[in-house]
Amino acid sequence: SRYFALIPAAGIGARIGADIPKQYMPLAGQPMLMHVLDTFAAAGAISHVFVVVSADDGYIADLMAAAPHLQGRVTLLFHGGATRRDSVLNGLQAIREEVGDDDWVLVHDAARPGLTCALIERLVETLRDDLVGGLLALPVVDTLKRGDQNARVAQTVERAELWAAQTPQMFRYGLLLRALTLAEAVTDEASAVEQLGLQPRLVEGSPRNFKVTLPHDVALAEMFLKEKF
Ligand code: CTP
Ligand code: MG
Repeated sequence: SRYFALIPAAGIGARIGADIPKQYMPLAGQPMLMHVLDTFAAAGAISHVFVVVSADDGYIADLMAAAPHLQGRVTLLFHGGATRRDSVLNGLQAIREEVGDDDWVLVHDAARPGLTCALIERLVETLRDDLVGGLLALPVVDTLKRGDQNARVAQTVERAELWAAQTPQMFRYGLLLRALTLAEAVTDEASAVEQLGLQPRLVEGSPRNFKVTLPHDVALAEMFLKEKF
């Protein structure tokens, strides 16, 4: 089976509050999304990259025009939805003809520009014979509190078994399409697969693969992107 990347890039970046959608914000000299596309284009295991953008996206054409090295490696899908789950599901439906049920799909946030080829390789190598699939994730390091409505600690949550989910999240096409069709309110692919009663595998990710979400994340992302890896 083959390995495909599917990049949801149809959000508006409300929390970061920039004047352009965050996936197009310049980071270390390139739009955030360009870093992600370059990494997947350079990853040997990946056959092809699909990007889901919004139907009225006004930035992707310029990005692609500035990236002749991506021609033929990347296909744009103008099928963004109201939520991340909808964008991913629309993307999966749009590639139905090009992908087999047993092919792997690596779903990766455009907002995680720190992904590296080494992390993609680790995920693919760990899961290539897996019956379920899985995701990059990081063991939680903070002590976690459950708070009540008055911001009083209700409980300290046992940390030992907790991981913070990252992307890529890698599942076989047929399973992922079924899972996301059935699961409506999920914030990642693994949750949808879990709702089928399956247990995705956790594969160690990296702090540099964090999701750029708030204004102060920009400087940290640039620091990681300027590091050689
Ligand atoms: N995404 C998407 N379609 C949506 C919402 C999000 O494709 N309707 C994508 C984003 O472009 C991003 C990824 O899903 O690559 C993770 O989402 P998030 O970090 O929440 O990005 P935004 O939704 O753009 O940001 P915010 O929630 O702050 O508005
Ligand atoms: Mg969002």
